[in-house]
Amino acid sequence: MPTTDRSTVLTSPDHATVVDEVSSWLAIPADEVDRKFRHDRERVATAVRQMNTDALAGDPDAFYLQQLLLSRIYQTVMRIPEEPTAEGSVLVHEVTRLLERATITAEDRRIQPGTLESAPVEGRQYLSWLKDLVRGHRAFKHPYYTEFINRSARYEDLRTYVIQESVVDGRFDDFLAMMQVGTAGPAKMEVANNFWDEMGNGDPSQVHTRLFNLIYEVFDIREQDLEAAMTASDLLSGNLAVLLCRYRQLYPEAVGFLGMTEWLVPDRFRNVLRAWERLGLPDVGITYHRLHITIDSQHAAGWFHNIVLPAASSEYMRRGIARGTLWRVNSSARHLDERLANTWVAAQAAQPVAAE
Ligand SMILES: [Fe+2]
Ligand SMILES: [Fe+2]
Repeated sequence: MPTTDRSTVLTSPDHATVVDEVSSWLAIPADEVDRKFRHDRERVATAVRQMNTDALAGDPDAFYLQQLLLSRIYQTVMRIPEEPTAEGSVLVHEVTRLLERATITAEDRRIQPGTLESAPVEGRQYLSWLKDLVRGHRAFKHPYYTEFINRSARYEDLRTYVIQESVVDGRFDDFLAMMQVGTAGPAKMEVANNFWDEMGNGDPSQVHTRLFNLIYEVFDIREQDLEAAMTASDLLSGNLAVLLCRYRQLYPEAVGFLGMTEWLVPDRFRNVLRAWERLGLPDVGITYHRLHITIDSQHAAGWFHNIVLPAASSEYMRRGIARGTLWRVNSSARHLDERLANTWVAAQAAQPVAAE
């Protein structure tokens, strides 16, 4: 496991220490972790709780480290390892739950009180309400895409963009595979159709994650460089997707989260495509983004019709789908605000005017 090598981490040494400690467990077989470190349980849990408290209070380093640790733990359930890992360890699970609960609490606090309660009961009205929530949200046509990516992004900016997108685009097929467990009827068929599109409809050269990975080559991005390039918001967007897809009781939230991810793609990718063409970058990126402009609007329509509408007869589903939708757009808006603030255009605008 890589160590937490960010300079910002130096300001919160305790959090960095516990993150390094738990990270080091992940490469050890689960039973061994539980045997060897059982006496460390209380101390580690207390340290993780403190990190969560600090993150919730707005400490950016604590938030970064919290999401970094969660993303490392999630790698044990998202990747097939070459050696046994700590997957299944009771101790790691306890830490995971602390991190997950804190992540959920933080997202729930961002939901305007009363929003979930105001959802219409009737299916079609509910769907319109859900779409209006998103249409009226800052994340819907965010200036990061409509202005920056569209008009000003340079080669380096698109490289950063691809790295940031890798946590979702690079494994979207696995999210679908995870979230469909336990579904039946039209919902299962819809996810299956979507998944088959992800699989290039049976053509190995057209598998979407493969096409996305080809873009790494354009920018000379290596797998091992990804983690260090991620911000807390990058890590959070990947972590939220794993969190919602891995728990059956969060299925409704996953429906909202992934459905809105699909719905937001075509418009966003139109801007990415424009940047790609403007910069004259290799065709692989054009293929991937153009494909999704068409296919993801179909995916979203199918998702709404075959998954959201049939589920909307249940109060539990309506609430969860809306919650997952809001987690998606709220976290996306913060993510894009952060990206926009870190662009060269923003840096230039912040330059002090030279003294006369
Ligand atoms: Fe795709
Ligand atoms: Fe899609």
